[in-house]
This record gives sequence, C-alpha cells and structure tokens, in this order.
Amino acid sequence: MTPLVGQEILVRYGTRTAVRGVSLTLPERTLTALVGPNGSGKSTLLKALARLLRPTSGAVLLDGRAIAQLPTREVARRLGILPQAPVAPAGLTVRELVEQGRFPHVGLLRLPRAQDEAAIQDALALTGLTEFADRPLETLSGGERQRAWIALVLAQTTPILLLDEPTTFLDIGHQLEVLQLVRRLPAERGMTVAVVLHDLNHAARFADQLVVMESGQVVAVGPPEEVVTTELLARVFRVRAHLLLDPTSGRPVFLPLETLAMRA
Ligand SMILES: Nc1ncnc2c1ncn2[C@@H]1O[C@H](COP(=O)(O)OP(=O)(O)O)[C@@H](O)[C@H]1O
Ligand SMILES: [Mg+2]
Repeated sequence: MTPLVGQEILVRYGTRTAVRGVSLTLPERTLTALVGPNGSGKSTLLKALARLLRPTSGAVLLDGRAIAQLPTREVARRLGILPQAPVAPAGLTVRELVEQGRFPHVGLLRLPRAQDEAAIQDALALTGLTEFADRPLETLSGGERQRAWIALVLAQTTPILLLDEPTTFLDIGHQLEVLQLVRRLPAERGMTVAVVLHDLNHAARFADQLVVMESGQVVAVGPPEEVVTTELLARVFRVRAHLLLDPTSGRPVFLPLETLAMRA
C-alpha cells in the first residue's frame, strides 16, 4: 500500500501554472525530500498533496482513495502538514499550540482523554520541549519555536507527515537537530514523511528518496546517490560544483564553485 500518491497534478493560480502535471509516490515508511529552486512549485505541490488546495486537474490518493472525496476529519487523522512559515495566534503557550494537533481526534464532548495527553507529552518529549511547555511561544528562540510547530504536527499522530522547509531560518546546529528528528520518524514510528528542504546537501544526506522540481515539474526522482550529479546541479540549480562522497554516510555532497546563471 502506498500511503500518498499524486497523479498528474496540475495547479494554476489564475493564468500562472505553478505545478505542471506532477505524478509522485511517497513510499511507505520512507523520508522523501523535495528540492528545487525558489518558485519551482514545491510548496504548491505539498499543499495539493495535503488537500490544502484543490488542483486544477489531477488527483491525490490517500491510502488508495481519492483525497477529494474523504471527510476532512479522516484526512486530518491520516495526514499532517506543517506549512512554510506558519503563524500562531498571539499569546499561545507551547503546550496550547501542541494541543491543537489533537483536534482531529477529540470526541464529541471535547474532553481531552488519556490518549490525547499521551500524544501531547510524547510530541513535547520527541522535540525536546517538555521543559518549555508553559512558555509563551513568542519567548522562544527561532529553533525552539520551529520545534514547537513540529511538535504540533507530531501530536496529531498521523502516519503521513508533510513538512515545508522546517529548517529555514535556523542555524546549522538547529537545522541538524530538526533533520535528525525527522529522519527517525520512518524507522521508529513507521511514518511516511515528505519534507521540502532548501539545502540539497541536507536532502541528500537524510532522505531515502529525492524529488527534484524545476518550473513546476519533477525533473528527477530516486535515491540521492543516483539523483545528485554535477549535470543536475548545473541544469537545475545553475551552479558548477565539485561532487564528493561523504565518507561517513556514503551520500553525495557537493561543493559549489560558481553560479552559471550569469552565463546564460
Ligand atoms: N497564492 C498564489 N497566487 C499566485 N501565485 C502563486 C501563489 N502561490 C505561489 N504562486 C506562484 O507559483 C509558483 C510556485 O510557487 P511555490 O509553490 O511557492 O514554489 P516553491 O515552494 O518551490 O518556492 C511561483 O511562481 C509563485 O510565485
Ligand atoms: Mg516554498
């Protein structure tokens, strides 16, 4: 069973086509990284996969069923998404934010049950935020706040998780913290995860599957060792680069030398 499949997804904003007929499968219990230049359609594709926007044409299958036909609550129980640059209402504490993740699960009486409390505690612990639970969000550093958002989607306890640039604005140490956490989810939690990443080296290092987008299309899919080539870096990212192999992980690592953009 493939948890999430996009079929010929096409998204237009007015006359502008942001995603041009993309077909994509997220293999079960793997980490997929989506990379591509700014404006290549990554966020739009992720939103279409999560049913945050309706594609102009094409379909998304969640556990083999058309996502467009499913009740919202059922989608929210199966799939969590952290959008790029989310905004919280002012004055929330970390715990109050993370509690929001339980909304698809609470019963008619809206009383929090033991399993809700357990999911909240677990999400706080996984993201290292147990001590921060009662702190107002606005008193947190950028990295801590980003972890609080991740805790929110983890508290939703969905088998599928989509994250849009969860490491943006974090320093390198905090980027790695988030990526190491995300990487554990498929193996330890059996989750199927897709993450949009800005840093291609991070994507190559942590992902099982890389999806490279350019101008609204998927131009390469596969394991990082197969996908990351000097040719791809030149063609899609317009950089000339050395390509190395990380001696520890065996994953490709590139060293950018110069932009090719000015030469076009
Ligand atoms: N709400 C919107 N209205 C109009 N155009 C949009 C909207 N959101 C994104 N776009 C356009 O769609 C294209 C893809 O954007 P996006 O999916 O955000 O790319 P990425 O996440 O790869 O940077 C861009 O050209 C962007 O300007
Ligand atoms: Mg984006």
